[in-house]
Amino acid sequence: MLILSVESSCDETAVAVTRDGREVLSDKVASQVEMHAIYGGVVPELASRSHAEAIAGLYREAIREAGIRPEEIDAVAATFAPGLIGALLVGLNFAKGLAFALDRPLVPVHHHRGHVAANYLAYPELEPPFCALVASGGHTLILGVDGYTDYRVLGCTRDDSAGEAFDKVARVMGLGYPGGVAIDRAAEGADEHAYTLPKSRVDGAPHDMSFSGLKTAMINLVHNAEQKGETLPVGDLAASFRLAVCEEIVPRVIDCAVSEGYGKVVLAGGVAANKRLREMMTKAAGEKSLRLFIPPVRLCGDAAAMIGAQGYYEFMAGHTSGMEQNAYASLDADYKLLPRE
Ligand code: KG4
Ligand code: ZN
Repeated sequence: MLILSVESSCDETAVAVTRDGREVLSDKVASQVEMHAIYGGVVPELASRSHAEAIAGLYREAIREAGIRPEEIDAVAATFAPGLIGALLVGLNFAKGLAFALDRPLVPVHHHRGHVAANYLAYPELEPPFCALVASGGHTLILGVDGYTDYRVLGCTRDDSAGEAFDKVARVMGLGYPGGVAIDRAAEGADEHAYTLPKSRVDGAPHDMSFSGLKTAMINLVHNAEQKGETLPVGDLAASFRLAVCEEIVPRVIDCAVSEGYGKVVLAGGVAANKRLREMMTKAAGEKSLRLFIPPVRLCGDAAAMIGAQGYYEFMAGHTSGMEQNAYASLDADYKLLPRE
């Protein structure tokens, strides 16, 4: 079964063709990172406008590269939630137009489920049940994936996402946007124990996380040094922060997996590209004899093939919709029925 999929929830416009949820025929991504970098973060209206400009060209390229004719597409999948609403609507409406014109089913796909499904593309043997960490620019959560479309939220951040914290801290440290990669790079070979940073604890919710206290502590450190005219060791600071973020995430994911009885753990989302997170998860999972699946870095960030992968399983579960399908800025990955307005 051939799925044409579209992703436009944030600052990447993407169109892909996938077969049976596991094979990528083409995966075209147009990143807007350079445009948003000038502003130090994503400007929603500019994101929507760029999606509108890029999407038709990406569709043509995706079809050409896959070596298929549009009539061979069996279904059209698109991210419908969560994300920047104006950005989501561009991709979703393009997908709706295509599904309408080709008279094919429309498959709405949840962005977080898509991130998790990127692992199906990398690991043909991977099947639910498993415990998944989705750590991206917009969200950080621990999910119980009991079936391809059967999700439970086991833990989540109470404030900022890990990616947001990386981006904000990189900005105050003058490392540019997007911040995760910059901090990861600056931290290499530096002393990660140079600074002691705060740890969070959410009363009554041991698997929930918080990154805002950590972020504020970092901002204060940088501002205080600036006021005193001191120069901070950027590498040591980046390494200490990176370690603190990982220590917030890793034990909670492992604990969720063990306490819920999952034998497998899956990483997903842009922050899953983090070198230290990958190392720490590998060690921690090994200690508990959990099987760990980490997507290659190219499958961590936003793309459309992951939406096609999840789209296949949503289609198989009968989760198709029609021209009334709307987009939603926020929606948890454990939704049971497609929301309609
Ligand atoms: O999943 P993603 O591409 O987009 C969203 O759905 O938000 O995630 C983007 C986030 C950004 O905050 C970026 O700084 C972060 O992923 N990121 C990283 C790394 N690479 C990207 N964070 C930490 N370490 C990295 N190597
Ligand atoms: Zn994402």
